[in-house]
Amino acid sequence: MFRINPSVLSADFVNMERDLHTIATADAVHVDIMDNHFVPNLTFGQQMTQRIQDTSPVPLDVHLMINDPLRWAPDYAATGAECVTFHVEAADNPRAVIDAIHTAGAKAGISVKPGTPVEPYLDLIPHIEQFLVMTVEPGFGGQSFMVDMMPKLETVAAAAHTTNPTLWIQVDGGISLDTIAQAATHGANTFVAGSAVFRPGITPEDAIAELRHAAQSGQPS
Ligand code: DX5
Ligand code: ZN
Repeated sequence: MFRINPSVLSADFVNMERDLHTIATADAVHVDIMDNHFVPNLTFGQQMTQRIQDTSPVPLDVHLMINDPLRWAPDYAATGAECVTFHVEAADNPRAVIDAIHTAGAKAGISVKPGTPVEPYLDLIPHIEQFLVMTVEPGFGGQSFMVDMMPKLETVAAAAHTTNPTLWIQVDGGISLDTIAQAATHGANTFVAGSAVFRPGITPEDAIAELRHAAQSGQPS
């Protein structure tokens, strides 16, 4: 069962309602929160996330690329988001952030940047619902997929197999028809796609269907 989560980072921010209604066949909508400090880019905050929650036909998958997630993550969970994912690099005590997200009513995810190993965080797997392995440096859409992240996916998948078999193992960055099967083969089951969904020449609905089919093929297309 593969999950496709389009990223609104590639949507038209002044036509967000229109674009949200084009992804009703997705499993969730990926909402990238950037603070100009943890990453060199800025998107929007809790208020806009609440409006996306009010408008979206599918649940929210919030990706926090911000400092001090213990302070801010509960506010995003309180919007009604299905899952809130934060970066372990930004957290002094990841377990405390996980607990705070759960207390605020959402599923909790952890994320690692490309330079961060996964091994120190494997013992958190029984306590989370999503593990995000970034396949680009976080901050911008439209970057190239980092194939050298595949061993990290395999490590997470092997650990989850025994300790949390329903874990969403997510990849984010450079996911396209050319890369999604490769990520699936190495253990990913949840795929964020921005520029591959919101692009000229194809409807988001068709792009989602193509990505889903390519993930299921199990072979790089
Ligand atoms: C990047 C964001 C991604 C971004 C992916 O920092 O976390 O979610 O939207 O964009 P694509 O799919 O274009 O690489
Ligand atoms: Zn993201």
